[in-house]
Amino acid sequence: MRKITIAPSVLAADFADFAGAVREIEGAGADWAHLDIMDGQFVPNLTFGPKLVSDLRKRSPAFFDVHLMVNAPERLVPAFAEAGADCITFHAEAAVHSQKILAGIKELGKMAGISIVPSTPAVALTELLPFCDLVLVMTVNPGFGGQTLIPQCLKKVREIARMRDSGGHNFMISVDGGIHEETAPAALEAGADVLVIGSAFFSSNDKTALVKRLKDFR
Ligand code: DX5
Ligand code: ZN
Repeated sequence: MRKITIAPSVLAADFADFAGAVREIEGAGADWAHLDIMDGQFVPNLTFGPKLVSDLRKRSPAFFDVHLMVNAPERLVPAFAEAGADCITFHAEAAVHSQKILAGIKELGKMAGISIVPSTPAVALTELLPFCDLVLVMTVNPGFGGQTLIPQCLKKVREIARMRDSGGHNFMISVDGGIHEETAPAALEAGADVLVIGSAFFSSNDKTALVKRLKDFR
């Protein structure tokens, strides 16, 4: 059985205290800090840039799971790698030369992730699977936290897990959007390894217990 990785998203945290949010993530025993980068174009919202990531890097040894929701992500990959990202994920819909970008991320010594929005089929990733360390399946339309998971997206998780097995690949599968205690079991059952969890984590008043319960689902 693959282990469950819990990746709380700071999108749901107090934006005036990101350092405190990362401390809460570490303190709760979660595995990764998920950092959502939005450009106001690929998605209708704006968050933050590499400076925040490098400032957080000085205060925390946590694993930084950077999720780029930006057009032309190749422009920003070097800056986020330099800032201290551990995994850099970009959207297949936002790039033309995705294979080249994945290879470039790996050359920078980082885990390379590719993501798809709900309307993109799993098959769009076929040619990219040999080159990625992580596939992030968006289970809501990206841009905002606190949305409801679209159940259809979990079928894609299952399909991508099947493609992984039949192709002999070894990437992790992450699910992002509307993940909480009620939806996590279905996502895990479909084949997810990484649970990105924003509002459900930051609204919990016992984050340590929540992380433990999520990890105990498998
Ligand atoms: C949404 C982001 C998510 C977001 C998830 O576009 O990519 O990482 O933080 O938030 P919840 O868990 O609240 O759906
Ligand atoms: Zn995200």
